[in-house]
Amino acid sequence: MRKKSNPIAMLVLLMLCLFLKVHISLGADDTISGNHSLSGNRIIVSAREVFVLGFFTPGNSSKYYIGMWYKQVAEQTIVWVANREKPIFDRFSSELRISDGNLVLFDESKIPIWSTNVSSAGSSEVKAVLRDDGNLVLEDGSNSSKPIWESFLNPAHTWLPGSRLGYNNKTGEKQLLTSWKNLEDPAPGLFSLELVPSDKSYIIRWNRSRQYWSSGDWNGQIFSKVPEMSLNYIFNFSFESNVEESYFTYSVYLTANKISRFVIDVSGQVKQQNYLTNNQWNLFWTQPRQQCEVYAFCGAYGSCNETSLPFCNCLMGFEPKSRHDWDDLQDYSGGCIRKTELRCGNNNHMNGERDKFLELPSMSLPENRQSLQVGNITACESACLNICSCSAYAYEDDGCSIWTGDLVNLQQLEADNKNGRTLCIRLAASEFKSPKNRKGLIVGAVAGSAAGSVFLLGLTLLFIWRRRNKVFGTGKVEGSLMAFTYRDLQNATKNFSEKLGGGGFGSVFKGTLPDSIMIAVKKLESVGQGEKQFRTEVSTIGSIQHVNLVRLRGFCSQGTKRLLVYDYMANGSLDAHLFHENNSYVLAWETRYQIALGIARGLAYLHEKCRSCIIHCDIKPENILLDDEFCPKVADFGLAKLVGREFSRVLTTMRGTRGYLAPEWIAGVAITLKADVYSYGMMLFELVSGRRNAKQSEDGKVNFFPTLATCILVEGGNVLSLLDPRLDGDADVEELERICKVACWCIQDEESHRPSMGLVVQILEGIIEVNLPPVPRSLKLYVDNKESIIFFTDSATNKSSSSASPDAKSANSSISTSS
Ligand SMILES: *[C@@H]1O[C@H](CO)[C@@H](O)[C@H](O)[C@H]1NC(C)=O
Ligand SMILES: *[C@@H]1O[C@H](CO)[C@@H](O)[C@H](O)[C@H]1NC(C)=O
Ligand SMILES: *[C@@H]1O[C@H](CO)[C@@H](O)[C@H](O)[C@H]1NC(C)=O
Ligand SMILES: *[C@@H]1O[C@H](CO)[C@@H](O)[C@H](O)[C@H]1NC(C)=O
Ligand SMILES: *[C@@H]1O[C@H](CO)[C@@H](O)[C@H](O)[C@H]1NC(C)=O
Ligand SMILES: *[C@@H]1O[C@H](CO)[C@@H](O)[C@H](O)[C@H]1NC(C)=O
Ligand SMILES: *[C@@H]1O[C@H](CO)[C@@H](O)[C@H](O)[C@H]1NC(C)=O
Ligand SMILES: *[C@@H]1O[C@H](CO)[C@@H](O)[C@H](O)[C@H]1NC(C)=O
Ligand SMILES: *[C@@H]1O[C@H](CO)[C@@H](O)[C@H](O)[C@H]1NC(C)=O
Repeated sequence: MRKKSNPIAMLVLLMLCLFLKVHISLGADDTISGNHSLSGNRIIVSAREVFVLGFFTPGNSSKYYIGMWYKQVAEQTIVWVANREKPIFDRFSSELRISDGNLVLFDESKIPIWSTNVSSAGSSEVKAVLRDDGNLVLEDGSNSSKPIWESFLNPAHTWLPGSRLGYNNKTGEKQLLTSWKNLEDPAPGLFSLELVPSDKSYIIRWNRSRQYWSSGDWNGQIFSKVPEMSLNYIFNFSFESNVEESYFTYSVYLTANKISRFVIDVSGQVKQQNYLTNNQWNLFWTQPRQQCEVYAFCGAYGSCNETSLPFCNCLMGFEPKSRHDWDDLQDYSGGCIRKTELRCGNNNHMNGERDKFLELPSMSLPENRQSLQVGNITACESACLNICSCSAYAYEDDGCSIWTGDLVNLQQLEADNKNGRTLCIRLAASEFKSPKNRKGLIVGAVAGSAAGSVFLLGLTLLFIWRRRNKVFGTGKVEGSLMAFTYRDLQNATKNFSEKLGGGGFGSVFKGTLPDSIMIAVKKLESVGQGEKQFRTEVSTIGSIQHVNLVRLRGFCSQGTKRLLVYDYMANGSLDAHLFHENNSYVLAWETRYQIALGIARGLAYLHEKCRSCIIHCDIKPENILLDDEFCPKVADFGLAKLVGREFSRVLTTMRGTRGYLAPEWIAGVAITLKADVYSYGMMLFELVSGRRNAKQSEDGKVNFFPTLATCILVEGGNVLSLLDPRLDGDADVEELERICKVACWCIQDEESHRPSMGLVVQILEGIIEVNLPPVPRSLKLYVDNKESIIFFTDSATNKSSSSASPDAKSANSSISTSS
């Protein structure tokens, strides 16, 4: 037995040695130099083992590419690819090495297929080094001050922290971030992100030409159309510009392991992802928010539906050009092809029936239409029929439009969408033979009629009235919801002359009803969003009443006009009382406390007492109105979501306000009532301090107040130092401490750790005592991280130390006034 096992043991030992030797030679080297090339399964690893460079195959592909990925991320996540368009098939006979001062990839036949392609002088000592930030640099060994070439300046589809994405002012070249073609092909795909230096914005284009998204211009802190990006405790974007180049760069300071990436992926969307300690990528934000906003995502004759999975479907009579691309690779760009050839322009079918048209209701019409001067639909149809390249027509009030060539960027809209039009697409007559198609045709035509939308709106309102068990008659409805005519409101507001304010969805005007009751009239603007707002608002707040919720008196829905009528609130919105610069007037502490309590009661009612729970979704000082006695009223239910009793979560697109959005909402998962609790907590801090939580101070630093407050609470510091300095310390310290603790509790990262609004009411009423909750994780990182502390407290520490004497003074003054 022993004699037999010995050779095996030796063999094992030998293999082990061989393995070890191989392993050693694979060792942690971060450099490709004249002596060290990359071939087979050899890799190089950056000095602190963050990034790896080597050959990889994407998905089930059998092709190899030189790529870079994270050492610590469990599932291989590629951040950069060298030979994107030219794969190799045998990595053992291919080699990435230094050649003539460049880093060059030689294929199986020793032909160079990819090169850094720079002309450099000191070629003998050139080497390529993989750095810990993910930058592969080519440098001259004798002079490493400036790299000869950098992967950071030649990005693929990922924008890493620290790298720059911009524009070279000398050569006019732009760095493009380009999507992969599909999950298995890293070649540049159709979608690309680039900088527009003139207004410091980023845009995404389709096929390097058609723009379909813009970040909006940079105002020094955020991109105007990406407010959610600004949550200042995660990213630090900055814009740099000089005669040579203009670019943005960014750093990440608050993810647990600091692995964060920004990609444009095969969906045509840009996505910001953070790698969590549970070994998963967490989607932080994505733009454009809707998949169907990506231009031509479904290719020719593909139709995009935001609520179906997959998003793309071929139009009736068409099928995917490539099933494999479509089903396995999430690549819809090839689009769809006809199942049956058209007769027109096809010599083989000379004797077939004439082509026919299929009506597709509620479609968004494609671009590049041609208008024809014909007077009726029949003439429009026959005009299209007589042009063989004509693939569709639409006849609307505005006349006859036809399209020639492939139809792209088709989207099936909801039946009640105002932008929906009926598109008639050309199909071979034989496609109409099956009974299934004909049925679809009829059903579709009814649902798509323009009347459909009006009808649906009518239903919504009718439903509310029914619940009130009254028939709409004289205009007055039980529960006093009134239907006003536009003329009524014109008269009441003196033709909309006195503007009280405005927001994203319209303007608010002051008015007086004939019985001299003062009203505020909100005129909703853009039809699409306005319509949605209008309905949400009428269907949520229209059916409930509470002393701390603004009262909707009625509405006007006439033609395209949508107006909402509320009780007038003499003292306007809370923000105006908190964030003003006028030091002579300041909201007293007792008033603030009552406001906090009132809002909590209003929200508790919304969350717990109504027939179905309502998530307000946009709690912030702007949306708290104050009546003549400073009684707070929660207003603006345009974003509210109804949650049936049986559901505890709703999915919603992110439309709230930055600074008040709960982390789970930003992460794009379904939200619960606790999202309101979070926003409420953020607002409490502002109520206490009289300033915006994330106000930027003059030196450009962001002082995140909740963090400061939490630190002071934890360390048992002077809570009075958190108080609005304009109050001169004139506050009930016990109440102040209570409110700060509640606020801290409300902004816990975990929803389940936050209190309900009902509980908040009881605490603020003094019925329940509250202990100090744990420091929220996202803040804890600040607290634990010295760097960040310096970043946020600079002026705050000054403030708390220098405020010691004023506090003492103010304490005296408050005693003297009370005595
Ligand atoms: C590369 O090889 C040359 C001679 O072949 C040697 O002088 C040099 O030190 C080597 N460089 C490295 C980095 O090993
Ligand atoms: C790769 O192959 C596996 C097993 O054959 C299969 O389950 C998977 O769907 C394939 N992935 C792709 C992207 O084709
Ligand atoms: C290198 O760049 C030159 C022009 O600068 C270009 O003509 C050539 O095709 C490039 N070679 C490779 C391999 O990209
Ligand atoms: C190193 O390179 C930089 C930039 O290319 C150049 O300005 C500098 O003079 C070089 N230094 C030496 C010692 O060659
Ligand atoms: C993209 O544009 C090029 C011309 O710049 C054109 O040849 C190509 O067909 C376009 N691709 C698609 C999918 O339309
Ligand atoms: C943000 O980035 C800029 C430029 O890189 C840097 O100067 C600044 O200190 C950073 N701010 C913080 C708070 O890290
Ligand atoms: C870019 O360069 C041109 C001339 O080369 C100059 O006129 C222009 O001001 C530069 N732009 C920036 C942003 O520096
Ligand atoms: C989109 O897809 C969903 C789910 O498949 C379906 O219920 C809905 O009717 C589709 N929408 C349109 C407008 O076709
Ligand atoms: C439609 O218009 C054409 C001419 O443009 C006319 O000949 C035809 O009679 C019209 N048909 C109807 C039904 O009005």
